Amino acid sequence: MIYTTVKVLSQKKLASDIYQLEVTRPADTEIKPGQFFMLKAWSGELTLMRPISVFRTDEASISFMYRKVGQGTERLTHLRKGSSMQIMGALGNGFPIEKIKGKVALVGGGIGIPPLYETARALRSCGAKQVDAYLGYKKELFAIDDFAAVADNVFIANEQGKEGYHGFVTDLLHTEDYDYVLTCGPEIMMMKVLRMCREKKVTCYLSMERHMGCGIGACLVCSCKTVNGMKRACKDGPVFAGEEIQTEN
Ligand SMILES: Cc1cc2nc3c(=O)[nH]c(=O)nc-3n(C[C@H](O)[C@H](O)[C@H](O)COP(=O)(O)OP(=O)(O)OC[C@H]3O[C@@H](n4cnc5c(N)ncnc54)[C@H](O)[C@@H]3O)c2cc1C
Ligand code: FES
Repeated sequence: MIYTTVKVLSQKKLASDIYQLEVTRPADTEIKPGQFFMLKAWSGELTLMRPISVFRTDEASISFMYRKVGQGTERLTHLRKGSSMQIMGALGNGFPIEKIKGKVALVGGGIGIPPLYETARALRSCGAKQVDAYLGYKKELFAIDDFAAVADNVFIANEQGKEGYHGFVTDLLHTEDYDYVLTCGPEIMMMKVLRMCREKKVTCYLSMERHMGCGIGACLVCSCKTVNGMKRACKDGPVFAGEEIQTEN
């Protein structure tokens, strides 16, 4: 797969280290909620592209929400309206929206929250009966208004900040109230969600945001242990059914 050069339409800073980047959508690009793109806005010593999930998309644009954590994401923050950059995708499998019906809980932690927004929009248009968002933050909130516009209920947990329930997002969740739970965020949080779903026999899908090299299935950097052997998060995932995932206990 080759990359495409796109134009930046906008870049907004949402919190001290969180940004929203909107770029032109290449013609004939199919995108499913939960898929990601490899992004690059540099040349020289930084060689690898960086995986970032689709936050939102429409006919003409794709938006990403990202946290500045290292060299690559720092370079992304320099992009301005009219800048050029390279993207490759959409990659990965995404959430199986067509299978998901009834009452759905979306459980996001930190920078795992963004891919659940497009997922919520798609579930609404595919006729899910209820879509509730459970959003867990360390301190600063972001994307709340976006979720408020597409979810039936938005529950906020905040470990250190003032707004929302003070504690972990999993404290707010009662998996037995739902037909499906979809989750993305730190693995420790997702494994807790998975255990809660298993206890109550609720179907769970997890998006495994592993460290990646190539993003297209060639380097095996992103391998995950599953009950069906090692799987590549970039190509076989990033979304896995809960029953495929091996947990410690
Ligand atoms: C499928 C997928 C989707 C993703 N979607 C998003 C998204 O929507 N928004 C977003 O901000 N980030 C997302 N990430 C994480 C993002 O790819 C990394 O934060 C980014 O590659 C870091 O690049 P860097 O050059 O800035 O930092 P680096 O210099 O490469 O690393 C800086 C620090 O971040 C850590 N890091 C790098 N990659 C990851 C990772 N995958 N998970 C946890 N820690 C990591 C490194 O260990 C290091 O401590 C996603 C990752 C995957 C695999
Ligand atoms: S990132 Fe290379 S195989 Fe997944």
